[in-house]
Amino acid sequence: MKGNIFIHNIGTLITSREIPKNETMSSMENIEVLKEAYILIENGIIKKVGVGDFTLENSEDFIVIDAGGKVVSPGLIDAHTHLVFGGSRENEMFLKMKGYTYMDILNSGGGILSTVKATRKATFEELVEKSKKVLDNMLSFGVTTVEAKSGYGLNLETEIKQLEVNKKLDEIHPIDIVSTFMGAHAVPMELKGKEELFIDEIIEMLPEIKKQNLAEFCDIFCEEGVFSVESSRKLLNKAKEYGFKLKIHADEIVSIGGAELAGEIGATSAEHLMAISTKGIDELYENKVVANLLPATSFYLKKEYAPAREMIKKGVDIALSTDYNPGSCPSENLQLVMQIAALYLKMSPLEVFKAVTINGAKALDREREIGSIEYGKKGDIVIYDAFNPEYILYHFGISHTQCVIKNGEIVYRTR
Ligand code: NIG
Ligand code: FE
Repeated sequence: MKGNIFIHNIGTLITSREIPKNETMSSMENIEVLKEAYILIENGIIKKVGVGDFTLENSEDFIVIDAGGKVVSPGLIDAHTHLVFGGSRENEMFLKMKGYTYMDILNSGGGILSTVKATRKATFEELVEKSKKVLDNMLSFGVTTVEAKSGYGLNLETEIKQLEVNKKLDEIHPIDIVSTFMGAHAVPMELKGKEELFIDEIIEMLPEIKKQNLAEFCDIFCEEGVFSVESSRKLLNKAKEYGFKLKIHADEIVSIGGAELAGEIGATSAEHLMAISTKGIDELYENKVVANLLPATSFYLKKEYAPAREMIKKGVDIALSTDYNPGSCPSENLQLVMQIAALYLKMSPLEVFKAVTINGAKALDREREIGSIEYGKKGDIVIYDAFNPEYILYHFGISHTQCVIKNGEIVYRTR
């Protein structure tokens, strides 16, 4: 029967179900791990999780998978991507080697603005085809839910085109897509120097995006030289009035108070946070904003890493995502992000797995449906070709995925 799977002989099952914290755990290690476990999925929904022997009745109605003593986790969640765009920007990599910074390139009409040109030119079908390939790669890394932002249109027509591509991808690909309207990604060429005017234009787009039900979240690039804290406050408060949930690219390059604003307006998550202040960390904690960290971007831009340990010490919930985009992170490899987080953010294996499962779900306000292997949640599962979680973080740069199950169906398998 469709969506019925029984997985047994699981050596280590990271269920990511949150458990009470004990004194030996950090604030991010309180997730359940079971040994010699099994999972029963019926009609795409998790029905039973346990350890030891389990006799399956009506076994002819189930696909039975022997996990061979390997590691299993919930489907991974990439809660921050710029999935849909035209063209590519390999030329910038070599400009950076000549000493130009990410912001120099943007200010001279390149960077995000060059992707805007290519995205405006691309057809709907071209964007679907291009992004579908990326989703296939994401699936091969064990990802079953992806957040995807617009922001390479910077006008209503192309922003809608990007969001409609998200909708189409959600329909045709096994990965679930969560859409974010990020019209405020950069000030377009035609309004150069007129940030406030452009913010007003974006505000006018909100009711149309909402009416067509094209996005659940609204995001803005709050950064020195892009959008100020005042503009970000104005846009996000309006978006909230229209019923959007909020995200904010905050303190990526310069600490201008983006994290503090995330706390003030009640954002679901704040993104990047490489330059976050101590006060910013306090605000995230007090207002239960998820810190969505993107360490592959630090790696690729050769920038500071976000102070993950300070955040964990404070008790902030951390998610980890790729930030897949053509400029600051042209990679969709979430397992590489996990490996960089272990190495450079000094996160423990349990912290890393929590960040890409239940906390990724929290960053998308989906923690009631996905992010952990427990009764009633979607049957989204990854089986790894590894016998312990540490190995997945140690052997870097490859995919450890052996099998991906989405809604109780096998959607990717290597052997
Ligand atoms: O999250 N910082 C702003 N936006 C993206 C980069 C987009 C681009 O360079 O095309 C980011 O890093
Ligand atoms: Fe981003």
